[in-house]
Amino acid sequence: MLVTAIEARPLRSLDRVRVELAPGIVSVIGPNGTGKTNLIEALYFALTGRSFRTSDRRDLIPFGGSLARAEATVRDEDGIEHQLLAAVSRSEGRRHLIDGSPADPATIARARPPVAVFAPDRLTLVKGPPAERRAHLDGFIAARWPARAELRKRFGQAVAQRNALLSRLAAGYGSPADLGIWDSGMAEAAAPLVEARAEAVADLATAFNEAATELGLDEGALEYAPRAAGSTEEIRAGLEERREQDIRLGRSSWGPHLDELKLNSAGRSLRRFGSQGQQRAALLALLFAERQALLEARRVVPLLLLDDVMSELDPGRRERLVNRLGDGGQVLITAADEESVPVAALETVVRMPPPQTESAAP
Ligand SMILES: Nc1ncnc2c1ncn2[C@@H]1O[C@H](COP(=O)(O)OP(=O)(O)OP(=O)(O)O)[C@@H](O)[C@H]1O
Ligand SMILES: [Mg+2]
Repeated sequence: MLVTAIEARPLRSLDRVRVELAPGIVSVIGPNGTGKTNLIEALYFALTGRSFRTSDRRDLIPFGGSLARAEATVRDEDGIEHQLLAAVSRSEGRRHLIDGSPADPATIARARPPVAVFAPDRLTLVKGPPAERRAHLDGFIAARWPARAELRKRFGQAVAQRNALLSRLAAGYGSPADLGIWDSGMAEAAAPLVEARAEAVADLATAFNEAATELGLDEGALEYAPRAAGSTEEIRAGLEERREQDIRLGRSSWGPHLDELKLNSAGRSLRRFGSQGQQRAALLALLFAERQALLEARRVVPLLLLDDVMSELDPGRRERLVNRLGDGGQVLITAADEESVPVAALETVVRMPPPQTESAAP
C-alpha cells in the first residue's frame, strides 16, 4: 500500500495544491511558514480524518473560508488506486469518503497504510499522562493485528458499564450482587487486551533499544507495566477482591485502564527525568520500532511523517536516522533547508511553497 499523491484544496494556507509522492523518502523543503507542516497535516487528515495538531478540525479551514478538504491517492497491493477524502465544513460538519462514498472508520483503516507522526509537540506522548501511551500502544496493536483492533473499544465499554453500576452503588442505589456480571464482563475484555499489549511490547522492545542507542539514548528500554495480569479468571477474582473499595470510590480502581507503557533510559523514567533531547530520541525510537515491526509483518507499508526532526539532531544522528529509514517504508520529512537533510534523503524533494495546480477539481 502506497500513498501516491496528496491534494489540499484547500487546507489552512494551502489552496489547490497537489503533490505526487514517491515510494521511500520524500523530503519537503521550504522556508518557515510555507506550508510544510500543513502539507503533512493534509495527508494525515485525508488518511485518518483527524489532525495531529488540533482536536478541533475546523482549525484546518483557511482563514475566512468555510471548508477544508484533503484527498490522498492510495495504491493497494493489487495496484488499484483509491481516493480517500476528508473534509470539514463550518455548516455541514465533517466527512470521510473512499472513492466518493462514506465509509466507517474500520473500512477506512483497512484502505490506508498505518500512519505515524513525529512532530516537536508530540513529545507529550513521552511526557504526558499514561492514557496517551495506552492509546498509542493500542493503535499499534490495531495496525499490527487488525483482528485485535476492537479490543480497546470492547474493554472501554466493559469498564464503563462496571463504573456506571459502581457509581450507582456509591450513591446508595442498586445491589452489589449485580456486580458479578460486570466483573466477568470486564475481566473477559481485559485479559485479551493485556495479552495483546504484552505481546506488542515484547515485539517492540529490542528494536526500541537499538533505535534508541543509535539516536544516542543510553540503555533505552520499553516496558509494559500492567495493573492487572493473568487469565480472565484471575482478573475476575482480582476485581471481586477490590469490590468494596471500588464501591466506596464509585469506580474501578484496578485494571488495564490504568496500565502504563514505560519509556526508560538507564533504568530511569524518561517521562519524569528525561531531557527534551532524550524524550525526542525515545519518541523517534518508539515510532521506528513500530515501523520495523509492521514492515517485518509484511502486511502493509507504514507511512511515517517526520515534521522538523532534522533541526533538532546533530549531523551524525541525522545520518543514522536516514539510514534507518531506507528500509522500504514510506516517509515524508520536512525541513526548512536542504543543508540539514542528509544526501540520502534528497532523492525526491518537494519544494515549498508549491505551485498551485490548475488541474485540481474545484
Ligand atoms: N487555518 C489557516 N488558514 C490559513 N492559514 C493558516 C491557517 N493555519 C495556519 N496558517 C498559516 O499557514 C502558514 C504555513 O504554516 P506551516 O505550519 O505549514 O508552515 P511550515 O512551512 O511548517 O513552517 P515552519 O518551518 O516554521 O515549521 C503559516 O503562515 C500559518 O500562519
Ligand atoms: Mg512546520
